[in-house]
Amino acid sequence: MSKSKQEALSLLQKKRAESEFPMGKERVEKQHKAGKLSARERIALFLDPGSFEEVDRFVTHRCTNFGMEKQQPIGDGVVTGYGKVDGRLVYVFSQDFTVFGGSLSGAHAAKICKVMDLAVKHGAPLIGLNDSGGARIQEGVEALGGYAEIFWRNVQASGVIPQLSVILGPCAGGAVYSPAITDFITMVDRTSFMFVTGPDVIKTVTHEEVTKEDLGGAGTHSETSGVAHFVASDDAAALRHVRKLLSYLPSNNKELAPRAVDAERADRDTNKIFPLLPDIAQKPYDMKSLLEDVFDEESFLEVHAEYAKNIVVGFARLNGESVGVVANQPMHLAGCLNIDASRKAARFVRFCDSFNIPLLTFVDVPGFLPGTDQEFGGIITHGAKLLYALAEATVPKITLITRKAYGGAYDVMASKHIRADFNFAYPNAEIAVMGPEGAINILHKEKVAKDPSLAPKLVEEYRDTFANPYLAASLGYVDEVIDPKDTRRKLARALDACKNKKEIRPSRKHGNIPL
Ligand code: HXC
Repeated sequence: MSKSKQEALSLLQKKRAESEFPMGKERVEKQHKAGKLSARERIALFLDPGSFEEVDRFVTHRCTNFGMEKQQPIGDGVVTGYGKVDGRLVYVFSQDFTVFGGSLSGAHAAKICKVMDLAVKHGAPLIGLNDSGGARIQEGVEALGGYAEIFWRNVQASGVIPQLSVILGPCAGGAVYSPAITDFITMVDRTSFMFVTGPDVIKTVTHEEVTKEDLGGAGTHSETSGVAHFVASDDAAALRHVRKLLSYLPSNNKELAPRAVDAERADRDTNKIFPLLPDIAQKPYDMKSLLEDVFDEESFLEVHAEYAKNIVVGFARLNGESVGVVANQPMHLAGCLNIDASRKAARFVRFCDSFNIPLLTFVDVPGFLPGTDQEFGGIITHGAKLLYALAEATVPKITLITRKAYGGAYDVMASKHIRADFNFAYPNAEIAVMGPEGAINILHKEKVAKDPSLAPKLVEEYRDTFANPYLAASLGYVDEVIDPKDTRRKLARALDACKNKKEIRPSRKHGNIPL
């Protein structure tokens, strides 16, 4: 006999209630004791209140190995669907560690793939909340195939919609490669870890002893490997952070990032910069203080803050417009470009270019870092990544030389020659093949060896001739030499002038960036 309407509705309610705690409330309590939220709590915190719509709530796995047919938790260890962040559509998946350790089965993978496909079709960002023991061991190759289906979609969606990964627990083995392909990774301090092979395997193969935390914790990946772009203190902070990150990004590559409504006046003076710039060329200053004065109040969101600190990258707002910032940092390695800095900045530049975010480059670079470490590590190839990325970018590109721009690094750092739209320099800028001391040692080697007292005069002569912005300005390589107090005004006007920029490049399948 068919069920009455009321019975059918009650069954739906029962199934829904079951799906809230598919393996019981005790497991959620265990998750809380470990300092983590549940998959559903995370979604509720992340999205605008009440905006979540679930997809595939009743999916179950199909595995019959190892008695798995006797355990068919509703949802199969991942909650998927869509909702809003600040009123804008996003797709989300949230792995449920309480169900088989959040491990990925064929069905679990298919749920993730479905929201990935919808996100691309609907032009909305995809946010993955990862908390998983990896491929579900009982499913064997079906789970591996599921991962590969996700990886393939990550690649197709790259540069089409923003893909953001939040690591809120384990993420091990090949599972790490989905977050690695996505645009930004946020990890939670102490409760998340990522590695391709864990401590036990490492001990067996290489006899190294290392803890999970030291191998793949948030500290390691934000400071040493550069795998993680952001670190948060707990789940809630990580989710708040991703909401903020989204506010700088368009929903897809056909749109522009949203404009902040409460933008500051673009034409205020930037009075803090002049006192910040040292009189002595070798003295460091904090580039971040300069950026703070230029951009809208408290709008700078640094990416990769703890990694390759000699270059600063991040998002900011200028008169409400979202921009990508790349800036040498004289406080670390004198702002030299090295392997890590080049890789860090190149990837950021390519993200901005994919998603129509204008690039503002602040230059204070004495050159590429010398040393065998760098040469043996392939600084030639890695440095070329940043050159390639900035030359390839067709978004508005505006450059300001705040002090030094020496050698190849001058060319690389969004110079006029690689098609920046506007290039500015401060009056104290030094633009030359190399710094005065190095140049004198080459040009007047014998003279200085015979009489070292000649060196200061020769250095001074070189500085007067080359270490200033006027040769570059006389050649049109610098469009304008500006007073530091006008920085914000000049950059905002230049940005506005680029509003309708369209740059067409020769058609090709894709370029061959020196990976
Ligand atoms: C099936 C899994 C599982 C998995 C965990 N569980 N990982 N079930 N497949 N991969 C289950 C456990 O059996 C357990 O079930 C529950 O999840 C919780 O796990 P615990 O071990 O009790 O939790 P904890 O001590 O917190 O340790 C979590 C863990 C550990 C570090 C993730 O479970 C672990 O090391 N799992 C294996 C990780 C792994 O090697 N995965 C394969 C990686 S290779 P019960 O029923 O007891 O609660 C990979 C390939 C991807 O993923 C390839 C892509 C190309």
